[in-house]
Amino acid sequence: MKTKNTNENSELMEKIVSLCKRRGFIFHGSEVYGGLAGTFDWGHFGVALKNNIKQNWWKKFVDSRRDMYGMDAAIIMNPKVWEASGHVAGFSDPTEDGKQFNVMFKTHVGAGEESTLSYLRPETAQGIFVNFKNTVDAFHPKLPFGIAQMGKAFRNEIAPRDFIFRQREFEQMEVEYFIRQEDWEKYFEYWRGEMLEWMEEIGLDMGKVHELEVGDGDRAHYSKRTIDFEFDFPFGQKELFGLAYRTAFDLNNHKLEYVDEEKGEKIVPHVIEPSMGLDRAILALLVSAYMEEEKEGEVRSYLKFKPSIAPVICAVSPLLKNKPDLVEYANTKVFAPLKAEFGRVAWDDNGNIGKRYRRQDEVGTPYCIVVDFDTLEDDTVTIRDRDTGSQERVKVIDLEKYIKDRI
Ligand code: GAP
Repeated sequence: MKTKNTNENSELMEKIVSLCKRRGFIFHGSEVYGGLAGTFDWGHFGVALKNNIKQNWWKKFVDSRRDMYGMDAAIIMNPKVWEASGHVAGFSDPTEDGKQFNVMFKTHVGAGEESTLSYLRPETAQGIFVNFKNTVDAFHPKLPFGIAQMGKAFRNEIAPRDFIFRQREFEQMEVEYFIRQEDWEKYFEYWRGEMLEWMEEIGLDMGKVHELEVGDGDRAHYSKRTIDFEFDFPFGQKELFGLAYRTAFDLNNHKLEYVDEEKGEKIVPHVIEPSMGLDRAILALLVSAYMEEEKEGEVRSYLKFKPSIAPVICAVSPLLKNKPDLVEYANTKVFAPLKAEFGRVAWDDNGNIGKRYRRQDEVGTPYCIVVDFDTLEDDTVTIRDRDTGSQERVKVIDLEKYIKDRI
């Protein structure tokens, strides 16, 4: 383990957890009833962050490509899916006394005697596999092609821990990429590159990302090769995402095949699976973005999110909230049009300007726009940059373009 559990690191984790609660990103689940271990509730800024990451992921892995199809399968599936996939027999962790405990969440579908035992999906992947034929019949894709899905997954983890790192309810973003067997090494390498590229794109500290070749005894039951992308979290170097070569294991078990119409042959495609946990992505992003800077004896903390990912792209302030002319201008000529265009725009008129900047820094707002007395004369505003603290004067009519150029 490369990162030691030093006091400094546990302090960093405490700071992140506390900031997430105080500033409305992430709360402990069911807190007013004493909580529920392994569950978290997401506040306004947390949801915004999640949405930005998901949109970015979908754009990169689905919308910008010609070989990808989307999927949104049901969370509760026929229990036969989980028998065929091997999860009923093998998706277990050892308890403290060494017994095997299947971590799938059980539920009952239907009423009374008629009800059947079922499970909440422990991975989104199976929703993709069982719809393989539906997707092929609807879109007639040629190999290689992929199906992508993001959504909730559930695991009754024996020891949920480390904030949102190991939860019982979490979100996955997965691609199942269908290929010919002989191409598996080529596409494994290709997806390794795509995953690394995406991590960099969303703003992870790539110096904290490491690759681990998972050994024979440690891989999931379906995998012939796995790389774990690990991240230096404050509590140690731990799995962030996984890349697996699932062979034809799943399609074989579900008795699904592919007809190559041009070649007139039936084959069972093999699968490369890049699997990314949304919650772990967000935790790694928070760790990467959290900055502290000492200036004139005062510590300024800020989240250095990329503008494309930040929950708030800009905050708009009238210099003084008791000057109706400033408030009116800021509200109608700056805030309203930016809000209509970008959505994630905040109004902040509380306290003095310095306090507003600190508050926006803490949630990672890259730009603070201030309407002052000069604005009323020359229709320009001040834009203050989160990372450098530098300010520039920009024309109000150019604001939309200014922001667009930066996301
Ligand atoms: N379909 C493959 C699969 O589910 P996995 O390694 O078990 O593989 C994939 O999970 C990813 O899901 C992990 O790399 C991690 O990002 C995320 N993940 C898994 N269990 C999690 C948990 N209990 N809490 C939060 N994220 C989790």
